[in-house]
Amino acid sequence: MQVAVDGPAGSGKSTVCKKVAINNNLMYLDTGAMYRSVAYLSLKFDRDKLLDIVEKVEFIFSDNGSKLSLSIDGMIEDVTDIIRSSEVTANASVVSADEKIRNILTAKQQIIASSNDIIMEGRDITTVVLKNADVKIFLTASVEERAKRRYAEVKGKTDKSYDEILADIIRRDDIDSNRDIAPLTKSDDSYELDTTALTLDEVICEIGKLIVEKRG
Ligand code: DC
Repeated sequence: MQVAVDGPAGSGKSTVCKKVAINNNLMYLDTGAMYRSVAYLSLKFDRDKLLDIVEKVEFIFSDNGSKLSLSIDGMIEDVTDIIRSSEVTANASVVSADEKIRNILTAKQQIIASSNDIIMEGRDITTVVLKNADVKIFLTASVEERAKRRYAEVKGKTDKSYDEILADIIRRDDIDSNRDIAPLTKSDDSYELDTTALTLDEVICEIGKLIVEKRG
């Protein structure tokens, strides 16, 4: 069983997919965390070295996909928190527009999906990585609602105002949707779920139904 979920920043993909994974006995894979990890590595290495490292890095997800460590040449580093910093977040849009990086990560994601029942979320999962997934979902919400949720999530952990968070989300939407390679877009065969007026439980229940229908 392959469930592919795409959607813009702050649409609630991670929270929803983690829960759906547990309820339906699926592995959860957050591909955004992989791009964020590469963004983190790009702050340490020049581009040639970076490509070499991205080829060989092993992504070790644990705790239902909530924690991530990188294994490079036998050295293991927990990057769970550092990849959420604003410096890495800003840089993630840059590395994710790099075709060579995308090709390497796409291949790694496809290998993981080939041997696991999985729910994978990102920006190009329904359109590129798992084009033939059993269930394809485009998760969205209004930009104001997404900013509101993100603000509630980071309040107290950052000094950013709601308006700054809203501006960040608008900027990331623009970059993710307008880049040349694998832009964020809803494929014709994806089920669009607008979560603006839905509770978390309602969204989880809706996706659960689609999975059960497909499993027969
Ligand atoms: O979902 P997120 O905010 O953690 O994603 C981090 C960055 O990676 C964001 O700039 C979008 C990009 N990304 C991507 O281009 N393709 C994916 N499959 C997942 C994320």
